Amino acid sequence: MQYIDTALDGESLVTPDAIAAEVFSSKGQKIDDRERMLAETELALALNMALSQFKQEKPPAEVVHWMAGALHKIRNRVSPAIWQTLIPMAQNHAVSDYFLEDPFTNWSFSKPRGYSGDAQLLDFIYGHESVAEEIANASPLGSAIYNYTKDASSSVAVRERRDLLTQHVDEMATSRGADVEIMTIAAGHLREANRSVALQENRIKRWVALDQDPLSIGSIRRDFAGTCIEPVDGSVRSLLTNQHRLGKFDFIYAAGLYDYLNDKVSVKLTKKCLSMLKPNGVFMFANFAEDIVVDGYMETFMNWALLLRSEPDMWRIIHASTPEGDVDAQVRFGANRNVVYGFIRKIG
Ligand SMILES: C[S@@+](CC[C@H](N)C(=O)[O-])C[C@H]1O[C@@H](n2cnc3c(N)ncnc32)[C@H](O)[C@@H]1O
Repeated sequence: MQYIDTALDGESLVTPDAIAAEVFSSKGQKIDDRERMLAETELALALNMALSQFKQEKPPAEVVHWMAGALHKIRNRVSPAIWQTLIPMAQNHAVSDYFLEDPFTNWSFSKPRGYSGDAQLLDFIYGHESVAEEIANASPLGSAIYNYTKDASSSVAVRERRDLLTQHVDEMATSRGADVEIMTIAAGHLREANRSVALQENRIKRWVALDQDPLSIGSIRRDFAGTCIEPVDGSVRSLLTNQHRLGKFDFIYAAGLYDYLNDKVSVKLTKKCLSMLKPNGVFMFANFAEDIVVDGYMETFMNWALLLRSEPDMWRIIHASTPEGDVDAQVRFGANRNVVYGFIRKIG
């Protein structure tokens, strides 16, 4: 992971500014004026080109695909400090009005819940009924762009992530038996529970779902009333400061959270989760990977910055969290390598 030198404390609301400070911290980085001017020119050309493609009524999916590719190339080529200066230029360009017709891009950009990456945003990726109205009310252009963004490689990886979570929960329930206890951190709407066969068959003793957003907690409480799922209003901070008495678990996992936590907080949280495992328990954390190609589109038109991690980044967190080495650990990628997973099994 690059350019991280300030601290996110893992506390409640994740604001775009806090993440941008983490992702693009440019402290001490000198901006080369010539490089900046060249980058601005290149970006202006790309934005104008996309605008004229929209005006010529080119298929919207082609325009957004082309734009996302152009942004990815520019982001990779310029220094982080310069890229940071380019983001507002894209956001303030007339072409952004076209992209914002996509209800998914619009939700991400406008952040109705006040922070980046809320659970309702993920519902656009899952195609969940909670966002059916926004999707139905989109303009024809917005619908066409949404048809692209909902199937972008990152979205495909998030749907696979949800399905893998269901699979791990069900496998854990099968292998551990009726006393199995699970905890989800940053649960969002806990959509992975919808398809859990073990949950349907009442084969899980306890499934704690913790999130800092009261709206998400309310959604879980409503959707899973009468099941073993226990919604807990809590944050990374409240966990780290021992404000809950949650007991021990066979399986603890976090998806869609580490992307917002710097290494220091990630290590603290990982250690905390390992301390809450039963013998042979498993902790899993997912992170968007550096291979993602829609990073430039997400950071500009969606105003959705994430801390992308590589395989060595994941291992660094694992090694720093397990100094005694009394664990089995693995790092694996999802099918399209847009999400990377760290698994730590506590031995004995
Ligand atoms: C991208 S969503 C992921 C939801 C779900 N895990 C999924 O994969 O669909 C991120 C969730 O993390 C929660 N979150 C963000 N920061 C948090 C923190 N510091 N403590 C607890 N939850 C947090 C948000 O409220 C949101 O529900």
